[in-house]
Amino acid sequence: MCGIVGYIGTRKAQDVLVNSLKRLEYRGYDSAGIATLDDENNPHLARSVGKIVELEHVLEPKPHTGHLGIGHTRWATHGGVTVNNAHPHNAGNVFLVHNGIIENYKELKAELKAYDFKSDTDTEVLAALIDSFYKDGTPLKDAVASALKKVRGTYGIAVFSPLEPGQIIVARLGSPLIIGLGDGEVIIASDASALLGYTREAIYLNDGELAVCTNKGAEVFNLNLKHINHTAETIEGDVDQIQKGGYDHFLLKEIMEQATTLHNTLSGRIDPKNGTMHLGGPNLTAKEIADIRHVVIVGCGTAYYAGLLASYYMEQLVPDLTTEVVIASEYRYRSFHLPKNSVALIVSQSGETADTLACLREIKKRGVKTLGIVNVVGSTIAREVDGGTYVHAGPEISVASTKAFTAQVVTMLMFAGMLAESHGGNPQLIHEFTNELAILPEEIEKTLKTHQETMHELAKKYAGFNDALYLGRDTAYPIALEGALKLKEVSYVHAEGYASGELKHGPIALVDETFFEVFNILDNWLFDKSIGGLHEVRARGGKAIVLTDSQREIDADDVIRINSPIKHLAPILLNTLQQLFAYYVAVEKGNDVDQPRNLAKSVTVE
Ligand code: F6R
Repeated sequence: MCGIVGYIGTRKAQDVLVNSLKRLEYRGYDSAGIATLDDENNPHLARSVGKIVELEHVLEPKPHTGHLGIGHTRWATHGGVTVNNAHPHNAGNVFLVHNGIIENYKELKAELKAYDFKSDTDTEVLAALIDSFYKDGTPLKDAVASALKKVRGTYGIAVFSPLEPGQIIVARLGSPLIIGLGDGEVIIASDASALLGYTREAIYLNDGELAVCTNKGAEVFNLNLKHINHTAETIEGDVDQIQKGGYDHFLLKEIMEQATTLHNTLSGRIDPKNGTMHLGGPNLTAKEIADIRHVVIVGCGTAYYAGLLASYYMEQLVPDLTTEVVIASEYRYRSFHLPKNSVALIVSQSGETADTLACLREIKKRGVKTLGIVNVVGSTIAREVDGGTYVHAGPEISVASTKAFTAQVVTMLMFAGMLAESHGGNPQLIHEFTNELAILPEEIEKTLKTHQETMHELAKKYAGFNDALYLGRDTAYPIALEGALKLKEVSYVHAEGYASGELKHGPIALVDETFFEVFNILDNWLFDKSIGGLHEVRARGGKAIVLTDSQREIDADDVIRINSPIKHLAPILLNTLQQLFAYYVAVEKGNDVDQPRNLAKSVTVE
């Protein structure tokens, strides 16, 4: 969702701001803008609707020359997608970019009668509120602090004024803000990927903090303007990781690089020789691990489906454990009770998802230990959990999540393996899982390479359909859900995921020759039952694609077989085929593959 950038230093601010905004494009946005101060301290504002390239067109005839500025990509919440609603906003002497939502903006607006508001946004109200305190020689920092004390809601902001050139004030509450410390320059961003290539040293602002940034560094305060000591941290990753590396789209790159990223997820965490798995991050004592009886897994979208698949594995591996997988947007408002000896796994690629974060806080209030299964290092969820482990999938730029899903499942599986050892799980089964994990990266690589072209051809064949059902049983069920989500997100084809056994409880009424069905069929004890569902669909004229690890005879329109020694983890391999399929259908339809319409990478509002 919305992105913030800011710059003070010796480079041309416009170049850094536009470049950094491009790095944030993946988060999803509908308009963009920058505001800068020139060397005579005159402010300049440029905004546009649409992609950053539109902003570049606006800037082309009149480039900004100054060395200080702020920029923003907006994802509309208050007010439509218009130039006037795009950030930065200006009121009096204040220029402001803002992520988040000011809940009491209407009350505040009613009080700010002296201002002639030009947009429908809550952000312009915040700019006016700051300006209303910015009088009679009050420093900008004090005016920002006074205004923020009156605000209800969430924010990450960057503010400057021509009256105090040479500084940008930033603050956060519930929306990330990172201050990159360079040599004679400071780069501000809401997402560390915008800082890569400029600096590796950064201050991650905490909620309720405000900082004064100059080209010499940053001083951090609380809203009572009490000084706070902050040590800089090192940002992980490099610029190569956030570039397409020769692929047409980030989505394809991220699908194809899963073997490599999975090596990072597994590194140092499995011991195939002894058949054991170990995660360092959870920070649990041996007794705490032995005492766990209940695991609740929380996530949204793909992260939820990853949790669902992991829960099947946990049940198989840990004999005395109850698992529960919940959708964060629901759970946060339920009157839930967690039994003693519960642990919560908080699953999030971005580590910023508002609903997941809210659940984390609700669970903590109930005194239950929370562990993060998070990808983005230093993200809010990673900071607020009691312990946890990074999934190390590397930057995921494409809005549709792929490699993070695989890394999340595998990380939770290793957590399950660790519990299993302590809870008297079957050592042979734990060993089997560990051995499969050890070869999973190369099996993913093989599957993707072998079937890339087949999935492309299949996508061409089915791209004209408007409706699809994705079906699976047991561990293939969560991936049926995930496969349907991936297809609808990037191709806009209506797709539903169902447990195969549910077909005759309703969805089979939909089936006719205009639908196609994707059956994920595992070669296990439920094979015959899965084939039963396939026959029911075929008998009603439905077109059937089968993705399977079985070499047995199967009668369907298209059968894609993986040939792998992997058994327990075969759903992960089948899912990579679904990822390729969704990607190529989207390409066939000419869609914006990496930034599908209406979607944002990091859903920081409810
Ligand atoms: C699907 C997708 C979303 C996210 C969901 C949670 O491709 O990307 O469904 O999985 O918004 O996001 P995170 O994992 O960042 O909490």
